[in-house]
Amino acid sequence: MPARLFLSSGDLVADRRYDFARDLQLRGDLPAAADLLQQAIELAPKFASAWFTLGKIREQLGEREAAVTAFHKARAADPLDRHGAGLRLMRLGAEPLAGMPQAYVQVLFDQYAPRFESSLVGDLGYRGPALLFKAVLSVRVAAKKPAFFKRAVDLGCGTGLAAAAFAKEVDHFIGLDLSPRMIEKARATGHYAELEVADMVQGLRGRPDASADLILAADAMVYVADLAPVFLEASRVLAPGGLFAFTSETHDGEGVLLGEGIRYAHSAPYVRASVEAAGLKLSRLDNLSARNEDNVPAPGLVAVATKT
Ligand SMILES: C[S@@+](CC[C@H](N)C(=O)[O-])C[C@H]1O[C@@H](n2cnc3c(N)ncnc32)[C@H](O)[C@@H]1O
Repeated sequence: MPARLFLSSGDLVADRRYDFARDLQLRGDLPAAADLLQQAIELAPKFASAWFTLGKIREQLGEREAAVTAFHKARAADPLDRHGAGLRLMRLGAEPLAGMPQAYVQVLFDQYAPRFESSLVGDLGYRGPALLFKAVLSVRVAAKKPAFFKRAVDLGCGTGLAAAAFAKEVDHFIGLDLSPRMIEKARATGHYAELEVADMVQGLRGRPDASADLILAADAMVYVADLAPVFLEASRVLAPGGLFAFTSETHDGEGVLLGEGIRYAHSAPYVRASVEAAGLKLSRLDNLSARNEDNVPAPGLVAVATKT
């Protein structure tokens, strides 16, 4: 994953204390790291990176209340919440489940972009685009229709891996992504006719009714808590007979949860209900994993929904 985000406090001494604290943290001396972070915060009370790191250390030390306080302070010091302190509060059960801050996703993937493909494909055995390709082909074969699409929209297109998998089957690819750096990488592939830095729901809202015959979302729904808005827009933008194919991470319980890796997992019944509520027909829902986590396949779903 990307290097940890650092937002300078504007105070050189406080920043240096933070650096020392990080060294201590990496060496495993958590109490000493926490002491140094407290000192940095005394010098610069609105030091978001120090508060956030302190929150993580307090959590590791089992000091839940102190962790909650530190994450609240981190978010107050950086209202855009680029560290994702609010997500840590959700994980700690201190706040109800909600969506990810856009600035958090943008910074995460802007930082990740240069190493994204080697890390995801190389280290995590990422196979989302190939799984979507197989699933879409099988739905087309079953429907006795050619697997060729005039206009496709790739939600959370990243560096363009899904478009590469579908390149020969799509005439006009549109990519939407929150991260400008990921979009730059996608542009360099030459697979996209249009690219837009946008949240996927906002980007779809700018597209006319029935203007696409394929919508893809490869490893992107893991950053979306509530699937309803994006599914409704996808349904509106799809032409009759069009397909919406996506991967998601999953769990055996009910509804949606935020996993340890700070990605959402959607239960199969929740995915089914979301597809139906958007007026789409579920053509396939398979238990298939798109990536590994700690060297084992992360439980996942591959879905293809059809606009009838
Ligand atoms: C793990 S990457 C997957 C990229 C690509 N689809 C692939 O298969 O390699 C997830 C991408 O989704 C984007 N993303 C996450 N949430 C988004 C949102 N709400 N709107 C648009 N893009 C989003 C991220 O910026 C990131 O580039």
